[in-house]
Amino acid sequence: MAQYLCDLMVWELVLNNNPQVTGIVELGTYQGGFSWFLDAQARARGISFDTYDIIEPDVEPPGFTKLDFYRFPDRVELRDAPIALFCDGGNKPRELKTFPTRCFPGSVFLVHDWGTETLETDVPDFLEELYGDFCDSIGSVTRVFKMKEGYPPEPAPPGFSGSPPEPS
Ligand SMILES: C[S@@+](CC[C@H](N)C(=O)[O-])C[C@H]1O[C@@H](n2cnc3c(N)ncnc32)[C@H](O)[C@@H]1O
Repeated sequence: MAQYLCDLMVWELVLNNNPQVTGIVELGTYQGGFSWFLDAQARARGISFDTYDIIEPDVEPPGFTKLDFYRFPDRVELRDAPIALFCDGGNKPRELKTFPTRCFPGSVFLVHDWGTETLETDVPDFLEELYGDFCDSIGSVTRVFKMKEGYPPEPAPPGFSGSPPEPS
């Protein structure tokens, strides 16, 4: 497992405080050590768990799919309901830019290796941090985000082009 014990406390806080979450998706399985923890959390809460990696682990954890998720982001099953998405693959800033906008409203996004592989400047404008003081206080390298209010902008009504109709 590539996590510290205090990272598990962040997950527990996030899952306890976000009952709208109906599934957990892990980007970057590695050998699956943390996947077993996330799967146990998902089972206890009656929600789904999926994990993706380009390399097959020696022992396949529950919910595993072999996938290059940078090449085929559309094949990551993000569900039509809020999820907790864990960005822990090879390029976390890229994951933060690519996947949250594809997730259902109400989703939460967790990213690992804060301060090394993921920097403040890697956080896209459309994300807002949650539980930052808690993460700092326990020395966790996990950070949590949600979509900013008003994002994505309301879709225009069908047929609305943004300009007044041409005079007939
Ligand atoms: C930091 S490890 C994941 C650690 C795991 N979450 C844990 O806590 O034990 C990052 C993983 O991202 C995977 N990865 C890198 N590029 C990838 C890609 N294009 N598609 C899928 N997985 C990728 C690597 O194979 C590696 O196993």
